[in-house]
Amino acid sequence: MVAPFAQRLRPLGSNVFDRMDQAKQDARQAGLDLIDLSLGSSDLLPPAEALTTVQSALSDPDTYGYTLFHDTAAFRQACAKWYEDKFGLAVDPETEVLPLIGSQQGTALLPLALLNPGDVALLTDPGYPSHVGGIHLAGGIPYFLPLVAEHGFLPQWDEIPAEVCRQARLLVLSYPHNPTTATATAEFWQQTLEFCRQHEIVLAHDFPYVDWCFDGRVAPSALQADPQKTCAIEFFSLSKSYHMGGFRVGYAIGNRDLIRALRLVKSTIDFHQYQGILRGAAAALATPETFLHHWRQVYRERRDTAVAALHHIGWPVPLPEATMYLWAPLPTGYGGSSGQFCLDLVKATGVALSPGSGFGSRGEGYVRFALVVEGSRLQEAIKRIGYFLEGSLKNPGAEFE
Ligand SMILES: Cc1ncc(COP(=O)(O)O)c(C=O)c1O
Repeated sequence: MVAPFAQRLRPLGSNVFDRMDQAKQDARQAGLDLIDLSLGSSDLLPPAEALTTVQSALSDPDTYGYTLFHDTAAFRQACAKWYEDKFGLAVDPETEVLPLIGSQQGTALLPLALLNPGDVALLTDPGYPSHVGGIHLAGGIPYFLPLVAEHGFLPQWDEIPAEVCRQARLLVLSYPHNPTTATATAEFWQQTLEFCRQHEIVLAHDFPYVDWCFDGRVAPSALQADPQKTCAIEFFSLSKSYHMGGFRVGYAIGNRDLIRALRLVKSTIDFHQYQGILRGAAAALATPETFLHHWRQVYRERRDTAVAALHHIGWPVPLPEATMYLWAPLPTGYGGSSGQFCLDLVKATGVALSPGSGFGSRGEGYVRFALVVEGSRLQEAIKRIGYFLEGSLKNPGAEFE
């Protein structure tokens, strides 16, 4: 008989996403042609240079051993150069960079380095589920900053009670934002850093969608508002910009004390990943901007195709400024929850979306589309959604008026 599990497990996991996984499996088994728009996993190919670099590393026996914590200088230098080139920020590759097994590893482990049980951490609702998971694992108490459309899905600093500001040790943000697709300006980051300094709060900025900003927008780094890196740390992922989610590679850049503390936590849990992956990731970071521009166009075209098709079927979703997602208020007239909508939809049509409630209570009333299939498949998915909304499929969702 297994003893009762630790209490820290209780708040983890989301039944909504679990139920969606089951529903996708059921839809497949029922013979439906699944169009899975529920995961932000890029369908595009990583840069060829990254793949050939990983491939040739396999025939180099020097890559087979453990990758220890001083490894690899070449990868850390590539990260520092990437930041310097992109944001004009000076970064010391020795002390201000930490390779990660995906950026999620960094944001999930940072609370263990910072929070004592009962310390407060500020984070957004809705937000990326792993952020709150890391706070729970560290025994921290999450305080949710509501993100609402009226405020551009940005937190309002003056609405946080003074007592909460006094107790808070950590603030976790992520712009361009998953799931709302909102972006933040340089001015927003200035105000955020002022808030953090005033209350002695560490800013952790998760920055995986830096490259997917559309129509001439540019996503500023939070570190541009803290170039001396006094209290901020930023996390970058190769999963999105370079389509390397399965390789599990990302990195943190920021305040050297934070980097050192995070490294201490990480070194208790694992080593770095296979050196060949770090070599491939360094090659990816050197990809010319023209490739990024091309992929950005791909996502922009998908966004335009999907939004136009949704408007055509009478679902007026907003046009996102950034990310690989659409954040769509549930269709007018639908009386059920976002979870029920997604379950009914996938069962009836084979189209899988993410229920907004999986990203926090403020996500209820929304669904998220991940634009990870070609335009023609998006059109097919939305055509089926149109039939579903009209009630012309067999199982159109009982609550629909
Ligand atoms: C905000 C955010 N952070 C982190 C991740 C995961 O990044 P990685 O694959 O580097 O762990 C995602 C993936 O969807 C994300 O949306």
